[in-house]
Amino acid sequence: MKPDVRVYPDLEALSRGAAELVIDAAKTCVRRKGFFTLVLSGGATPKRLYTLLGEEYRDQMPWHSTHIFWGDERNTPQTSLESNYRMAYETLISKAPIPVENIHSVPTTPGNPESAAQAYEKIIGDFFQTKSVDAGGASFDFVLLGLGSDGHTASLFPGDPILDEKSRWVCAVHAPPTYQTRERITLTLPAINSADQAVFMVSGSGKKEIVKTILNDPARVRKKLPAAMIQPKEELKWLLDTIAAEELKK
Ligand code: 6PG
Repeated sequence: MKPDVRVYPDLEALSRGAAELVIDAAKTCVRRKGFFTLVLSGGATPKRLYTLLGEEYRDQMPWHSTHIFWGDERNTPQTSLESNYRMAYETLISKAPIPVENIHSVPTTPGNPESAAQAYEKIIGDFFQTKSVDAGGASFDFVLLGLGSDGHTASLFPGDPILDEKSRWVCAVHAPPTYQTRERITLTLPAINSADQAVFMVSGSGKKEIVKTILNDPARVRKKLPAAMIQPKEELKWLLDTIAAEELKK
């Protein structure tokens, strides 16, 4: 699938572009089937997007019919500064009228990531009424993704055996030693690739080399870099700011 690559002047414009994509997808899905499933990314890049959705764009979203999930989580308490849930709560969930039963966060269990992964897998399986992602029929509508400078996305890191997982929705992983919180829970590749739409948000000079590596010759790194393995069912978009896109082939 050839990605739809969009370059914006800066992170603010990128975040506004992302907000419009989320709102369009939400309205379409709710019109078509009555609900919308949105998978949030962690990290710092999406903070502005979440704030826009919780404030300026708040009334444009069908929050009552929107279900929120996470692409990955650090296995820390939800009050931890490392928590992706906490970041989303502070920027979006505490501001938008999302019914509490529509918020499907990872039940973290510090010290026992496998237990958290199994609990989150049950939440997703119960929501979609299917036990395994390869059973077909169930899929997320819209998955937001970030990109690490090592080519990871969600908590799918290069060389991790989880990249071969075919049927589980969720797995526990250990991030490389350089990461502050190593215990992670992440959606698997098939869980992300079963989605209708996946959208990367990438900003800043620190990402320009990895963006160049992945987007200038995706086939060459598809077997190595998790972010290059993302192939959703319908649409793959890369939203970049100018500096992250600096090395892209013209
Ligand atoms: C996480 C994310 C991770 C993140 C990238 C980019 O839990 O950290 O899911 O995949 O999206 O590392 O992070 P930044 O947006 O902070 O650069």
